[in-house]
Amino acid sequence: MKRYEELAEAIAKSIRDEVIKPGEKLPSVRETSKKRGVSASTVFEAYYLLEARGLITTRPRSGYYVNSSAKKLRPLAEQKTENLSKQQEVDVSELVFEVLEATRARSSVPFGSAFPSPVLFPMAKLAKTMSYTVQKMDPWRTVEDLGPGDNELRRQIALRYRIDGVDIPTEEIVITNGALEGLNLCLAAVTRPGDTILIESPTFYAALQAIERYGLKTVEVPSHPDTGVDLDIMEQTIQRYRPKACWIMTNFQNPIGSLMPDANKKRLVEMITKYQIPLIEDDVYGELYFDEKRPTPTKTYDEEGLILHCSSFSKSLAPGYRIGWVAAGKFAKQVERLKLSTSITTSVPAQQTIANYLSKGGYDRHLRQLRHLLVLQQLRYLKAVEQYFPEETRISRPHGGYFFWIELPKSVDALKLHRTALDNGISIAPGPIFSAQRSYKNFIRLNYGHEWDEQVDDALAILGKLVKT
Ligand SMILES: Cc1ncc(COP(=O)(O)O)c(C=O)c1O
Repeated sequence: MKRYEELAEAIAKSIRDEVIKPGEKLPSVRETSKKRGVSASTVFEAYYLLEARGLITTRPRSGYYVNSSAKKLRPLAEQKTENLSKQQEVDVSELVFEVLEATRARSSVPFGSAFPSPVLFPMAKLAKTMSYTVQKMDPWRTVEDLGPGDNELRRQIALRYRIDGVDIPTEEIVITNGALEGLNLCLAAVTRPGDTILIESPTFYAALQAIERYGLKTVEVPSHPDTGVDLDIMEQTIQRYRPKACWIMTNFQNPIGSLMPDANKKRLVEMITKYQIPLIEDDVYGELYFDEKRPTPTKTYDEEGLILHCSSFSKSLAPGYRIGWVAAGKFAKQVERLKLSTSITTSVPAQQTIANYLSKGGYDRHLRQLRHLLVLQQLRYLKAVEQYFPEETRISRPHGGYFFWIELPKSVDALKLHRTALDNGISIAPGPIFSAQRSYKNFIRLNYGHEWDEQVDDALAILGKLVKT
């Protein structure tokens, strides 16, 4: 990443965290240049970039100012729950399919999409790597590489774990068709039909669909916007229902965006160890952090192999390649066998392409660039939501990923809003698809992973108007 981009990102974070307040003047170019030890032209370029992104404005003969929003929306509140959730069967698939099918069209503005813009990924570089890889590929690899996956790819993934401070043997890693296959295999490995599984609320809808498909029951534990799953309620729920497994997102939870602090992660691992409950940890957004370093997976603290850690390159490097993995602890062999009997293996050329890309270096550079774009976009989208949405709206402030979780006024029906927005060429993800009980009737998830432009601005203005009416 260029120095001016790094500087722009640092300033954007200060604006987001209100270290520099809306309307306030930025330090002069000379001051910033001296303080940061960079040239004046680097500061100019950073300020130009922030100006082009609509985050600051220059006033002639006065300097640069942080753009202030028309109003400031409040952050999301913690859910106060006194009663434990009931154990229940899940029946949301139809609703989820209906929403997903409607949000896929390229013609609609994709606020409801689960993916960031595909143009943010190094597609041309990957295509070159794939072409080279396939030409050099030993044909016998397509026959021999059945089973847990390409050895070099598994080694590269183990290496990345090690850099992040988690020691996972290469043999424990099973390559899957995206994280979703991995998550499903893990669920199959640790449950039988009729079992109860503990999930967060709200939760990723595909977790609900998997639970429905396997004939499982759920108990939901509330997740808080900042710290993730409520551990006190989780322990009470475990004591009451004795679930067979948990499925939890600790880093940039989808849809709420929460990031569980390390102390909570440790307590979570102590809890599942005490009750001997396997934990399926869905960590597909871990690389998209905006703070100093990658947040740890709970797997870091797992001494008994109870955590089945799932992730993929779908959101961070190569959407569409469908390369994910599982590090399943003491369930690794079961997951490996389930993979073999479900889909034999994952596309060998795609695995080798990603392995070659990783071994050449450049992934971290790409990630820095991607995170940089997401930080700036988050701020730009936030300003627009503040401008266009009604005052009672509450919004999450995630420190990573690319989703806002938005609480609209009580009178708004998110499912109706989804249908009217679609008629206007805009997709959103309505709250009820994230809950077994179809709660969150006045919530939506909004994707800010698509480049800011006039069409996005217009679409947010229309959405704001629809919410108000
Ligand atoms: C929380 C979460 N887990 C898993 C997945 C699936 O990941 P993949 O595309 O690698 O299968 C998604 C995709 O939307 C997701 O949001």
